[in-house]
Amino acid sequence: MTTPTIELKPSAHPLSDAERDAILAAPGFGRHFTDHMVTIKWTEGRGWHDGQLVPYAPISLDPATTVLHYAQEIFEGLKAYRRPDGSVATFRPEKNAERFQRSARRLAMPELPVETFIEACDALVGQDQAWVPAHGGEESLYLRPFMIATEVGLGVKPANEYLFLVIASPAGAYFPGGVKPVSIWVSEDRVRAVPGGMGDAKTGGNYAASLLAQAEAAAKGCDQVCYLDAVEHRWVEELGGMNLYFVYGDRIVTPTLTGSILEGVTRDSLLAVARDLGYEAVEERVSAEQWQRDSENGSLTEVFACGTAAVITPVGTVKRDGAEWRQSGGEPGEVTLRLRRALLDIQRGTAEDKHGWMHRL
Ligand code: COI
Repeated sequence: MTTPTIELKPSAHPLSDAERDAILAAPGFGRHFTDHMVTIKWTEGRGWHDGQLVPYAPISLDPATTVLHYAQEIFEGLKAYRRPDGSVATFRPEKNAERFQRSARRLAMPELPVETFIEACDALVGQDQAWVPAHGGEESLYLRPFMIATEVGLGVKPANEYLFLVIASPAGAYFPGGVKPVSIWVSEDRVRAVPGGMGDAKTGGNYAASLLAQAEAAAKGCDQVCYLDAVEHRWVEELGGMNLYFVYGDRIVTPTLTGSILEGVTRDSLLAVARDLGYEAVEERVSAEQWQRDSENGSLTEVFACGTAAVITPVGTVKRDGAEWRQSGGEPGEVTLRLRRALLDIQRGTAEDKHGWMHRL
């Protein structure tokens, strides 16, 4: 595989310091974008080529471009954090790069070398460093690498041309309430992914498929939908864009990866952080009945969602057909907050990075 160099074409009209500072004061999630983006092309027979760091701008696509019809698309999400000394670091970019390769294989797309993925993220963050929010708050710079099939034509086949891009967006809390607990609707009829499907690939289709179930959750008064497995409609899989953790006192459980659950980087990191803090952290199947029963008998003390965008978000109220209950009295649980703090301290550079997770620019 060839590794293209990334040529810099700086923006002639970056936002002014005052405009950027106004955005960074209240960035929200995914609403504002930095001054530049990275683009790299792939062409059959030639491989990866024409790496560029260019001004952030619309891209032009022929209406018959295959991604618009057959959704051959994959993406990632990772964050850059401002450290106490003012420098910047990203969190485990090689994990995202490796998952991007797995997603590419599943969607019959070319694999981007891990080092090129990291180089592209570094180039964008390096150029747009002023967009990384100040140290100490909840804010960070969210990076969105993605790849689309750009061949023009309506034949259903793997494309012979692709475009890889990285864009960046300053991010505050994913949920408007921050660490305020979210409510969950456990859907017993809609499923997110099936065995042998593409649930473990990070591809837009999985998120499109989640929107109706998410709207149904909202109609039930809930913030998020939780999916059960597609075969028995019994085993907890994940939320629309986040993994789940169950806290049984000092024992912390996340559903076993089944092939239809996305292997979250935050999920993986928390298994290690929890063990570092002395908890027993395991992967196990958890059923919806067990979730309800153990919450009602008090053995399941807390539940939280986790993901790059959501960090760690406590679960407050849970509803399923015919039942409704509250986790940890509807308040953020003690273990949830402890794990959240421990992970964020590593990411922001105020705790020892004993696993070597932070990638300094
Ligand atoms: C992430 O946490 O990075 C996600 O992909 C969730 C969502 C914003 C799509």
